[in-house]
Amino acid sequence: MKQYDIVSSVTVYDWDELSCEDRQLIEAAKKATQTSYSPYSHFQVGAAALLANGVVFTGSNQENAAFPSGLCAERTTLFSANAHYPDQPVLSLAIAAYKEGHFLKAPVPPCGACRQVILEIEDRFKHPIRILLYGSDGTHVVDSVRALLPFQFVRESME
Ligand code: THU
Repeated sequence: MKQYDIVSSVTVYDWDELSCEDRQLIEAAKKATQTSYSPYSHFQVGAAALLANGVVFTGSNQENAAFPSGLCAERTTLFSANAHYPDQPVLSLAIAAYKEGHFLKAPVPPCGACRQVILEIEDRFKHPIRILLYGSDGTHVVDSVRALLPFQFVRESME
């Protein structure tokens, strides 16, 4: 028998420890929560993606009466960014969530499907995506989605 550990590193920043660029991206994600269409969950998620050309794309969760037809903020944002700029790597992605009049204290980690999509975008552009998970008690940062998705299923897994 063999056993191995997969270790992830997450850094938690207070607001005043973040760079100006990171704060701006988080502010964009927070603003984007207000564009959420979430009449079913009343859970407003916003995301902001910084592209290599400096463009910031934002998006939010978009729900539907047929629940699985809706889409998370992360995928709305990233698919839109990739559709507009198919040759621009995504450098960073900020995520924020708003419910009942305030931003959540603890960060909202991306769901499994979003992690898988972020992974494909990292591989597509051969560039890791820094993920900034905003919570009013601190921003949790990982340098790549691989920290959130160990033992990944990727293109090479099919070879
Ligand atoms: N949601 C996101 O947009 N991103 C996440 O990371 C988690 C969940 C959305 C999907 C749905 O509209 C609502 O939050 C409740 O699950």
